[in-house]
Amino acid sequence: MRQKTLKKVYLDYAATTPVHPRALKKMLPYFSEKFGNTMSLYELGQEAKTALEESRGTIAKHLKARSEEIIFTGSATESNNLALKGTALANRKKGNHIIISSIEHPCIMESGKWLEGQGFKVTRLPVDRYGLVQPTELEKAIKKETILVSIIHASNEIGTIQPIERLVKRAKRKKKEIYFHTDAVQSFSKLPIDVNKMGIDLLTASSHKIYGPKGAAFLYIKKGVRIEPLLHGGGQEMGLRSSTVNVPVIVGFAEAVKITHKIMKKEGARLSRLRDYLISRVLKEIPCSSLNGHPLKRLPNNINFSFDYVEGESIVIQLDMEGISVSTGSACSSSKLQASHVLRALGLSPEKAHGSLRITLGLWTRKSEIDYLLKVLPRIIENLRRLSPIKK
Ligand SMILES: Cc1ncc(COP(=O)(O)O)c(C=O)c1O
Repeated sequence: MRQKTLKKVYLDYAATTPVHPRALKKMLPYFSEKFGNTMSLYELGQEAKTALEESRGTIAKHLKARSEEIIFTGSATESNNLALKGTALANRKKGNHIIISSIEHPCIMESGKWLEGQGFKVTRLPVDRYGLVQPTELEKAIKKETILVSIIHASNEIGTIQPIERLVKRAKRKKKEIYFHTDAVQSFSKLPIDVNKMGIDLLTASSHKIYGPKGAAFLYIKKGVRIEPLLHGGGQEMGLRSSTVNVPVIVGFAEAVKITHKIMKKEGARLSRLRDYLISRVLKEIPCSSLNGHPLKRLPNNINFSFDYVEGESIVIQLDMEGISVSTGSACSSSKLQASHVLRALGLSPEKAHGSLRITLGLWTRKSEIDYLLKVLPRIIENLRRLSPIKK
């Protein structure tokens, strides 16, 4: 039983975020009095349609894209499936080769596996010890049959930020007719993104990682990209995603985009300071600890440690008993109890990968909470190490 005096400290913002009160307020009327279907011709439907198109315009503006290049979906998993499978299926005649990195989110890794089952060839690019894809490796992997490259913008596990603009340039220099997709779920609203400047053809982002509600995401599809829909039906979302449009959550998503972009620079600087403070104190105060991911090229809110001789899951449980929520890797892989494929791709041993802890900060994170974590974490690690069967 949790004691009443215990603090509640949420440090798992990469898994999901609470809905911002202003986003919640904005979306509520679309559940009740403004409940129309965007396909209905009468006023109630048109009111919903207007809200949908305004939301699309808001999101497009923040990416420097055009409104008609934004397709709303139900999740980033769906957007990533559409990006990979949709472009692969539509461009099959041009080639059957796809390149991804070895540190993608499971929804890209699994889509790649599915496409292999359909006769496509998939190359998984290696990364260096910080999780960076090398532009020369990408260039080497591109063949005349390559139709698509998909590389995550910022890692959900280790926070490493890829040099997407340089990777796009290298890829397109080798082969002009190639599509470049990036999964920007963890970077969108934390880092500035200009799809034209970066040369991106497809980009995925999600609402519930940026203080919007769950159930909304988008895929940016540059004008002219050939893509096959995965859902067929009433022809919503320019024929690319049939389904009655989920207007309330899309309205909440767009409001969250406005809020987070307005404070991006200041909030990024504040979180970077907290991140660096936590990293330096842990590395100094906890023996046999190390940082995973790039020391500088990393998301302002991401910290990923390995602690030798302990299991990440045990630390998560012990911290939970102290009222602190953190995670071992991504929320999706932490239930599988397998060493993270991302940490393994960095070259970490299975033991070191199993001793990992991901701490992600957000809008409501305060220094007092980091200090509280710093107070309880060394004791937890020390106790677990004392009980650990793994030999020191
Ligand atoms: C980088 C990345 N891509 C894709 C996803 C999938 O998002 P969702 O579970 O919202 O579909 C996540 C969620 O953790 C993510 O972090």
